[in-house]
Amino acid sequence: MKGNKIKGNENNGMNEDQIVKKKIIFYDTKPYDIDSFDRLNQQYEIIYQEAKLNPSTARLAKGCEGVCAFVNDDIGQATIDILVEEGVQILAMRSAGYSNVDIKAAAGRLPVVRVPAYSPYAVAEHAMALLLTLNRKTHKAYMRTREFNFSLIGLTGLDLHGKTVGVIGTGKIGRVFIDICRGFGVNIIAYDPYPANDGAINYVGLDELFEKSDVISLHAPLTPQTRHILDKSAFDKMKKGVFIINTSRGALIDSEALLAALNEEKVRGAGLDVYEEEADFFFEDRSGSIIKDDVLSLLLSRPNVIITSHQAFFTEEALSSIAEVTLQNIEDYFAGRELANEVKL
Ligand code: NAI
Repeated sequence: MKGNKIKGNENNGMNEDQIVKKKIIFYDTKPYDIDSFDRLNQQYEIIYQEAKLNPSTARLAKGCEGVCAFVNDDIGQATIDILVEEGVQILAMRSAGYSNVDIKAAAGRLPVVRVPAYSPYAVAEHAMALLLTLNRKTHKAYMRTREFNFSLIGLTGLDLHGKTVGVIGTGKIGRVFIDICRGFGVNIIAYDPYPANDGAINYVGLDELFEKSDVISLHAPLTPQTRHILDKSAFDKMKKGVFIINTSRGALIDSEALLAALNEEKVRGAGLDVYEEEADFFFEDRSGSIIKDDVLSLLLSRPNVIITSHQAFFTEEALSSIAEVTLQNIEDYFAGRELANEVKL
């Protein structure tokens, strides 16, 4: 064991105050992160930083053995170089996605671990919440009845029963989403270059999925192959009146192409928990500022677009699980154990 808390009679007579704990710096932390990690952590001295991790803040990790970061931190080559220079030994992502980490730059220098599955249910349930809200316009009904406006005009939805839902990416979250959809009596088709081979899912080609789906829900990771998987040519192939749901990563959708498809009424509604350029906005209260992203402003101005700020994961169960697995990943590293959740090239 390379360090950590010295427990019970292993502590050579030292009391708790004399035990030197390894330091882990957490970037981009919010009160809910502090609550969930403090509830479980005993073995590390955690330094919580509000700042995001990027080349200008990476030096704050000086003297820390580990760094814990999140989805909108900028962990490119420059950041990694500084962390390595400062002696950081492990980068623990407290997220499933790691598209913001330059894995090539980290390879062989800084092990990167992540939390591969903290609650696929949280994300899949949020995707369904977005779809149901968009379809039945409960966001509008809520505002109306609070103003004593009990009119139904403009609130017409569709039966989901009998419609076709196209799922892109049938990993952990995509499969839970499919299970949830089954309860609605919809036809499900899916696309995944690595299909599950249990015969439970009806896989089709991507073009067929675009052509047949009344709802398209994205559950694939962001990779060079999935970047802008929904672009103008994809929207052109879709049925008029399709619903688009994205709880995966913003850059899976070309936002300008989505805006055009919304303007042409090709898309009946879009539920977005992620946005291509979210890093400057999401997770922060920007209500007092001028948003200088015209595409985001235009999307937000559409009554048939619902944007949530990357909150699909945000359940109590998921937060506890993130804290537990992240601390276990760090513990495994310092104990010299095999890293079950290491991100490899
Ligand atoms: P997973 O790794 O279990 O599944 C991803 C699936 O996508 C795999 O089956 C894979 O074969 C498939 N895939 C890979 N390339 C593809 C392509 N070109 N086209 C279609 N499918 C492709 O991942 P999981 O846990 O289901 O998560 C999916 C994504 O959800 C994550 O990558 C992450 O970006 C996002 N996510 C979002 C959260 C949120 O709060 N909004 C929280 C957690 C994850």
